[in-house]
Amino acid sequence: MSDTASPPIRLAEYRPPAWTITDVALVFDLGRESSEVEATLMLRCDAPEATLRLDGEDLELLAIELDGRALAAEDYTQDATGLVVHAARGFDSCLLRTRVRVLPAANTRLEGLYTSGSLLLTQCEAEGFRRITFFVDRPDVQARWRTTLRAERARYPVLLAGGDRVAERDLGDGRHEAEWHNPHPTPCYLFALAAGPMARVSKAITGADGRAIELNVWVEGDDAEPCRYALGAVERALRWDESRFGRCYDLGVFNVVAAQDFTMGAMENKGLNIFNARYILADERTATDADFMGIESVVGHEYFHNWSGNRVTLRDWFQLSLKEGLTVFRDQEFTADLHSRDLKRIDDVRLLRARQFAEDAGALAHPVRPAEYREINNFYTLTIYEKGAEIVRMLHSRLGEAAFRAGMDRYFADNDGRSATLEDFYAAHSAATGIDCADMLAWYAQAGTPVLDVERSFDPSTGGYTLVLRQRPPANVPHAAPLPIPFRLALYAPDGRALPPPATHDAEPIPDGLLLRHATHTLRWQGLDAEPLPVLNRGFAAPIRLRMPMRPEERARIVQVESDGFARWDALQHLALDVLLARAGESVDGLGDVDAAEAALSAALGALLADTQAHPAFVAECLALPDFDTLADAVDVVDPGALVAARERLGLSLAAAHREALQRHVDALRADARGGLDDAAMAARSLRHAALAWLSRVDGGAAARRLWADAGSMTERMAALRALLHAKADGAPAAREAFAREFADHALVTDKWLAVVATRPATDALDDVEALVAGPCWHPTNPNRVRAIVGSLARLNPAAFHRGDGAGYRFVAAQVQAMDAINPQVAARLLGAFEGLPRWTVAARELALAALAPMRSAALSRDVAELLGRLPA
Ligand code: TRP
Ligand code: ZN
Repeated sequence: MSDTASPPIRLAEYRPPAWTITDVALVFDLGRESSEVEATLMLRCDAPEATLRLDGEDLELLAIELDGRALAAEDYTQDATGLVVHAARGFDSCLLRTRVRVLPAANTRLEGLYTSGSLLLTQCEAEGFRRITFFVDRPDVQARWRTTLRAERARYPVLLAGGDRVAERDLGDGRHEAEWHNPHPTPCYLFALAAGPMARVSKAITGADGRAIELNVWVEGDDAEPCRYALGAVERALRWDESRFGRCYDLGVFNVVAAQDFTMGAMENKGLNIFNARYILADERTATDADFMGIESVVGHEYFHNWSGNRVTLRDWFQLSLKEGLTVFRDQEFTADLHSRDLKRIDDVRLLRARQFAEDAGALAHPVRPAEYREINNFYTLTIYEKGAEIVRMLHSRLGEAAFRAGMDRYFADNDGRSATLEDFYAAHSAATGIDCADMLAWYAQAGTPVLDVERSFDPSTGGYTLVLRQRPPANVPHAAPLPIPFRLALYAPDGRALPPPATHDAEPIPDGLLLRHATHTLRWQGLDAEPLPVLNRGFAAPIRLRMPMRPEERARIVQVESDGFARWDALQHLALDVLLARAGESVDGLGDVDAAEAALSAALGALLADTQAHPAFVAECLALPDFDTLADAVDVVDPGALVAARERLGLSLAAAHREALQRHVDALRADARGGLDDAAMAARSLRHAALAWLSRVDGGAAARRLWADAGSMTERMAALRALLHAKADGAPAAREAFAREFADHALVTDKWLAVVATRPATDALDDVEALVAGPCWHPTNPNRVRAIVGSLARLNPAAFHRGDGAGYRFVAAQVQAMDAINPQVAARLLGAFEGLPRWTVAARELALAALAPMRSAALSRDVAELLGRLPA
């Protein structure tokens, strides 16, 4: 497995393929232990005398023929990564047929053809297709596909592949076959099949262009009812893409399959999406509100890839954000349009600032378009996805909705059926709008989060007000050039009136804001009666760190006067962050006396809790204090214990201060929170449960016990269980036992209680986790289970992970190494928990490095070896 020595793949070395494949016919003889794949490839050569090299890994070659002639041993060479066909030299086209054997049941990597329960499934992105058959496995090779699946009817009654089904036959010997055809030019990473005993929910609809479309959502077994919600989400996504982007679906059937064993969230294979079951299966008995929202968003994401990714695909993997950043932007807009735009923005920015900023400042930081990689699977990151989406959002802000839509139409029209680059994307927008936006490409080329330092001055004698905005390169990328930043701001007069935009400025006007292009910009107002209150980076229009010291009462005032929901939430978060940092011993500019600052924060929260007009879900967002990652991101040296303790103490003191109001919400919201998946009921639950979480710090778990006894939906049960377990309240062990027993057969619900146990904010949660890994719930071949237990501890439990004795680090490091032999992608993701290491205290760093040391001399996958090589030694 060890692969540290292979040279990196470099963007600068991209060359178009010499050999391409125009048509593929695949015939699968499917079996659980062993499957055979016959591939007939129509190959074309565009460069004279070029070597025909096909990718192929862990394939047993059974037969090979070229243009109908069986090849002799000297006609080809096979090695560990592929096949060179000497006999094809000099041809400008040929037909190659190979027959290989693969071993699905032994495939724990979950790449290529593998088993999940009684199903046979594939996962090909990024480079998994080479584990199914010999092929030119790169996204700029796009073919038309014909796929025939043959299998025993009793074991594999349903046979699905990409495209439309064109035939099915009984083969007479207890076996049957189905033939599928995908006429759209498609790269092999979008190939998929699924076979086995599955049930479906289904709906026939007519697309906006008149096409008859069958929507199906499938799951292993005979009960597809838990797929109903996902089916509705597919239809909503399809309609939304028709109306907001003018994009229609392009096959007669759209199949979605839920898989219990799946490395990532879901996969957009052409006509046959395959999903992690957690993003499909849901009913109110087993899934929480957050699960339902996640399902709708991921279903949307994969559906939207049909245009942003599939019809227009990637030239090479360096362009990954071209499909992922764009598609995240599209799924964010889908959720914003269907639900609350403000709340969606708050959620997205919370994730971005807590996790993507940390990634971009840590040891694994990389540009949105990296210059090189060893293992592309390591680049499915928050930076590629979330920062990539922010860059598309900045383009949208710069152009406005109508021009952006024109640019998108142009991008899809010009690149349909092609494999594109980020340059193609910005060229289409520039061409369609007449606005040259190619300067946005600079955002893709450098890592790190830019800083905008803001200096404000007011001259009471003239009423002149000035903001000087200075862009500074990220701390970890000191030579970065200034980037184009769309900037939105508002000024408020002391009476709460919004003031007009600056009288003079040296930036470029864009819809609702300004485009900052230079290192320094100056904005001036005149004739103001009093010093105004500035609200900057409204809506988080740019993914930057804004530095402007503010007094606590100014931040609290923003919550009162500002109309942008994001900016109100942001002001409170910032105030809480300042208080937390000061309590943890950091010096915070502008904060003043920390007790007074905490009093201002407490008063602002009290006002929100008392505000009967406030949106309950918004109040719930405000109750969530900045998380550990956000705190860690804000300091130069991370002392994990100090940050955890500061957060615990502030939570406790705020809960004590607002105990009555919290109890009032828990009681008053009972009826509104009762049931149903409408936004109002979800909002009521979100506030009720946020209040409960606070309350359970100070009421000994009394409110949580009442909710536990009274709970109907899984949302209520999880809120009660989490509050009880995390407070170690009376009744916690009994609740855990009852819950575990009731859902012992339901893997996704079992994952939930395991994650609650693993995230209990205390150092001894590690002991619980070690017991879980030694017990009957531990299934290391199931990625969801590994994430629920080990991932939760490593990523969501700083108290236990950063335990002062280093046991958290040693546990996670040992799990990374053990997992590497099973599923390298899952192992590499766990290793990411160490990305912040360069900024940890010396003591923490030394413990972590010692924990990682044994791995450095071990045989490792390319995935883990690459990341380990980027961590300091
Ligand atoms: N393209 C998928 C998405 O974002 C991501 C994905 C699913 C993936 N499975 C994978 C990436 C396996 C790498 C490996 O929707
Ligand atoms: Zn995606």
